[in-house]
Amino acid sequence: MNALYGLGQALLHALDPERAHDLAVKSLELGLYPRQDAPDDPRLAQGLWGLKFRNPLGMAAGFDKDARVWAPLLATGFGFVEVGTLTPKPQKGNPSPRIFRSARDAAIINRLGFNNEGQAAALSRLAARRSGVVGVNIGAGRDSEDRIGDYVSGIATMSAVADYLTINISSPNTPGLRDLQAPEVLDTLLARVRQARASAAKRPPLLVKLAPDIADADLPEIVRVIEAHAVDGIVVSNTTLSRAGVKDARFAAESGGLSGRPLFVRATRMLARVHQLTEGRLPLIGVGGIDGGAAAVAKIEAGASLLQLYTGLVFEGPKLIGEIKRALVVAMTDAKAESLSTLVGRDADQWAERKL
Ligand code: FNR
Repeated sequence: MNALYGLGQALLHALDPERAHDLAVKSLELGLYPRQDAPDDPRLAQGLWGLKFRNPLGMAAGFDKDARVWAPLLATGFGFVEVGTLTPKPQKGNPSPRIFRSARDAAIINRLGFNNEGQAAALSRLAARRSGVVGVNIGAGRDSEDRIGDYVSGIATMSAVADYLTINISSPNTPGLRDLQAPEVLDTLLARVRQARASAAKRPPLLVKLAPDIADADLPEIVRVIEAHAVDGIVVSNTTLSRAGVKDARFAAESGGLSGRPLFVRATRMLARVHQLTEGRLPLIGVGGIDGGAAAVAKIEAGASLLQLYTGLVFEGPKLIGEIKRALVVAMTDAKAESLSTLVGRDADQWAERKL
């Protein structure tokens, strides 16, 4: 069976990246995917924000934009799935081609621009019960005249079906979106978003997803504003505009956000800095360039309580999920740790000082 999925993987890589992605989603919808065959090691479980994560590895936002395949993704072994980014209205996104792969770099550049069917369409798909955690990532419409209003309505619409909500202000593919990270704007945004959640019938934890391109000097103020608004967690990070370390020059010349291996050090360094700034008060989701067990363990040691990945799965296939969970168990055994929390942030100081 695994050989078959290997063949599937090879075929997917022969296709245009966006068609390969659509086919992968289709296969999941049709039930053609490898299921997790044994329960997770109990040491991988964590309770955070009143939610039970059976393991810390999540599918990052952007794979299941329209909330079609979160159930099969959980069945493959992910502990949680973040669907979206969902905008209030459906939108087509940028013209194709808009996803680029470099096998040499184990990296992807995308400039999708929040293509999605809109929040209303996702709503009913998220109403089902689940044995795993499903977060909803929300964004602003490209042509919206009131971007903050889009987040407010996103909270109002999606709160009822989300185990947690992520405010995505870090996509590089919606012009001006990252400006919402500027402290004064962020302050207004978070005040309104918090108000919106307070008046929702269900009040899921609220996370903010940051870009890895925030200057070191700007980070403390951004984190201060996030904490001042009692945000529950931070996702570090989205894709980068940097092309540092990318070998394939033609690939590097494409515009859009870079993910995968070349993002790893940049995102992990910023994660460690956020961990230092918050002194461990906020659970952090570490994402960016996880491509194996060692990278996953490093993210935890840099300060992540939970992990997400996307690009690694494209290059390594679903076997990566089991590989990462095994490596985390080995790391806990080596450290004589009863739970992952013992490892969280223990190398943050070293990671924070890494050269870029
Ligand atoms: C993404 N990512 C993303 N993030 C987000 O918040 N909303 C989104 O809609 C998308 N869309 C998206 C599409 C594609 C094709 C990719 C590759 C990525 C970013 C993603 O969630 C993650 O933050 C980065 O990809 C870094 O992690 P990896 O891919 O290096 O593991």
